[in-house]
Amino acid sequence: MLPVRASTTGHQDGEGSRCKPILTTFPLVSMKHVLVTGGAGFIGSNFVRHVLQVHPDLRVINYDALTYAGNLENLADIVGNPRYRFVRGNICDRRLVDEVIREHGVDTVVHFAAESHVDRSILDAGVFVQTNVLGTQVLLEAARVAGIEKFLHVSTDEVYGSLGPAGKFTEESPLHPNSPYAASKASSDLLALAYHHTFGLPVVVTRCSNNYGPYQFPEKLIPLMIINALNDRILPVYGDGLNIRDWLHVGDHCAAIDTVLSRGRLGETYNIGGNNEWKNIDIVKVILMTLGKPENLISFVKDRPGHDRRYAMDSSKLCDELDWQPAFTFEQGIVETIQWYVKHETWWRRVMTGEYQEYYRKQYHGA
Ligand code: NAD
Ligand code: TYD
Repeated sequence: MLPVRASTTGHQDGEGSRCKPILTTFPLVSMKHVLVTGGAGFIGSNFVRHVLQVHPDLRVINYDALTYAGNLENLADIVGNPRYRFVRGNICDRRLVDEVIREHGVDTVVHFAAESHVDRSILDAGVFVQTNVLGTQVLLEAARVAGIEKFLHVSTDEVYGSLGPAGKFTEESPLHPNSPYAASKASSDLLALAYHHTFGLPVVVTRCSNNYGPYQFPEKLIPLMIINALNDRILPVYGDGLNIRDWLHVGDHCAAIDTVLSRGRLGETYNIGGNNEWKNIDIVKVILMTLGKPENLISFVKDRPGHDRRYAMDSSKLCDELDWQPAFTFEQGIVETIQWYVKHETWWRRVMTGEYQEYYRKQYHGA
């Protein structure tokens, strides 16, 4: 039932939480101090761990505002690592950004920090413009003034809009963002590329498809469905459940970013995808089957306004030019991810308190 793709050389360890160095472990020549924004979030925390494991010559400064999505528990195992520092701060705070870049001798920026959830952008778009657009501009300007050697801006396939049943997005596809989240990310991509074009800032942009894996906040499809199934709560599938996403394991995304950071051409954009398209309803059924839960937990609910029908990425530029390939099969990755959530109940119970409950009520019960 599950499609098998790529090779299976990469995997998580027994804890299921550590992305082993996968295929690409090129040295990041001359990069000694990497500022990772949003390093306490889902992908950022996996990337911080990846860098510390794969590049013994690098220091990482994790700059994160710790919004509802930021969680230092994601990095509990690396606290005390002499090559790691955490600074709590907002990317919109120019003074603090300047200070951190100067004090830590930052020469490389990998920019993950963002408001990242489409449904929240529909409930309240303002903070998406603030963080994703204005915050990115603050970082770019600070990087320009400081003479940063490389600035990697992490973006998403959602900037391209929605596909029909055939075809894939290439880097040449026009930008056609449909949600406030996607529009804010498209704006930030354009600002990053404009800073390269206008000021010669050494920028490279990556656009990735949907990620899954350990430490993903349970507002997104896969962790939300796993946790609801574990709690015997209904699994709310939007619309007809036939929307399609191209899923990539977060470990593969981290390896791809590492590759682009090392060898990507400046001023270029690289698509990153899993070549792994799934209808939402089929993903939900795989989760239920793996957990031995009944399909009558599925409930088709009101569709997301403006819901993009299909995303699919053509990553051939990255694969051919920089020799990157995803290492996880979806079969392996989804089962390990489900097991990770089964094992890490304390983690998800803690992040689901307080603000999450309020969000869940608003989003799923209209309260
Ligand atoms: P996330 O929501 O899990 O984490 C975002 C992090 O950014 C959190 O730690 C949060 O505290 C921090 N943050 C938010 N606003 C901030 C601010 N103003 N200043 C400093 N820190 C701030 O997000 P994620 O899923 O890890 O996504 C990371 C990046 O990858 C985002 O730029 C997102 O657009 C992009 N992306 C995500 C996916 C995906 O499937 N999750 C796919 C493609 C691209
Ligand atoms: P999501 O994980 O929010 O990622 P994105 O919208 O950025 O692709 O959603 C993935 C898909 O799952 C998307 O088509 C919306 C759908 N979805 C549901 O059907 N129910 C849910 O409760 C959520 C959160 C998402």
